[in-house]
Amino acid sequence: MTEAVLLVGGKGTRLQPLTINTPKPMVPAAGVPFIAHQLARARAAGVDHVVLATSYLAEVFEPYFGDGSAHGLRLTYVHESEPLGTGGAIRHAARALAARPGEPVLVFNGDILTGLDIRGLLRRHERVQADVTLHLTRVADPRAFGLVPTDGDGRVLAFTEKPRRPEEIVTDQVNAGCYVFRREVIDAIPAGRPVSVERETFPALLDADALLHGVVDASYWLDLGRPASFVQASADLVRGIVHSPAVPGDPGEYLVLPGAHVEGGARLGGGTVVGAGARVAAGAVVEGSVVLDGARVEAGARVTASMIGSAARVGPRTVIDCAVIGDRAEIGADNELREGARIWCGTAIPDAAIRFSAV
Ligand code: GDD
Ligand code: MG
Repeated sequence: MTEAVLLVGGKGTRLQPLTINTPKPMVPAAGVPFIAHQLARARAAGVDHVVLATSYLAEVFEPYFGDGSAHGLRLTYVHESEPLGTGGAIRHAARALAARPGEPVLVFNGDILTGLDIRGLLRRHERVQADVTLHLTRVADPRAFGLVPTDGDGRVLAFTEKPRRPEEIVTDQVNAGCYVFRREVIDAIPAGRPVSVERETFPALLDADALLHGVVDASYWLDLGRPASFVQASADLVRGIVHSPAVPGDPGEYLVLPGAHVEGGARLGGGTVVGAGARVAAGAVVEGSVVLDGARVEAGARVTASMIGSAARVGPRTVIDCAVIGDRAEIGADNELREGARIWCGTAIPDAAIRFSAV
């Protein structure tokens, strides 16, 4: 049996307003809640039991995923009434694990899309007999991540979470948010209080001379923390740039879910997904975007690299670029727009019906 803990308790603040009612791991990417892709990839790698470590909006996971049987997995839900941080969540979730001391437990951050060879990571963990094996990736700007320099054998030399000082930036290798723990290392994390695995557990293990092993991997990797990367992940899944068995359709330039209505003369591309019950009118152009269930994109609107919340409405000739439009928001006003309103990069429209009628 191979077991995993999936960390899904974070607030997803940077994806607001979409995460006001839906926790980030449940926001749809390529037509299904994002973690459906992580679960499908884990299953394909031989994982058969996943513990979901929930906190924020915990109640929405189980109605969708149930006991996991529909996804070919056994799923267990463990809830923190107060968020325990990443390490505390792993420790808390351990009560639901069957793994015995010496056996491996996978841990995934719930907001990472990657083409990592999970079996390969497990094999490496066994081969080097590490206490913890970490998936690492190289990024151009490592400041928003955990920095993890390694020696020539992959032994982790330090772990610096979100370095503040320039002299701390000693590598472009960062924690990619997937680990293999030996079971007893999890049991040694203090229980019943918040613990950050990045700020507390890993540095303490290194101080104690534990073997932390890093596997630098060059496969697809994206952290979905920001709206732009969430939209990118969805588009890459739709186009098959990264493979997920959970995408409901074959790879292509767009994905139209059953029950969506796209009028002739509308143009979809760049990995756009149009959700169930959503409508895209004639003359609208939707590129590299996520249009959630029941949303409407009216005639002549142009939507690029954006997320349109469920039941939101993008009015005629409105131009939306790199924006997050909240559920039920209304953008544009049919009769008042001549040139079309632009909601610029990074603009977040509150989760409420508003009318935007600037020209
Ligand atoms: N259950 C539970 N409880 N889950 C939590 C909690 C908590 O209190 N806090 C965070 N999580 C979950 C989040 O939902 C997410 O899936 C994961 O833990 C990581 O938390 P983030 O808040 O997304 O952290 P980050 O993106 O700033 O940094 C982490 O990921 C980077 C890679 O994307 C760190 O692990 C970095 O070291 C890493 O480089
Ligand atoms: Mg994150």
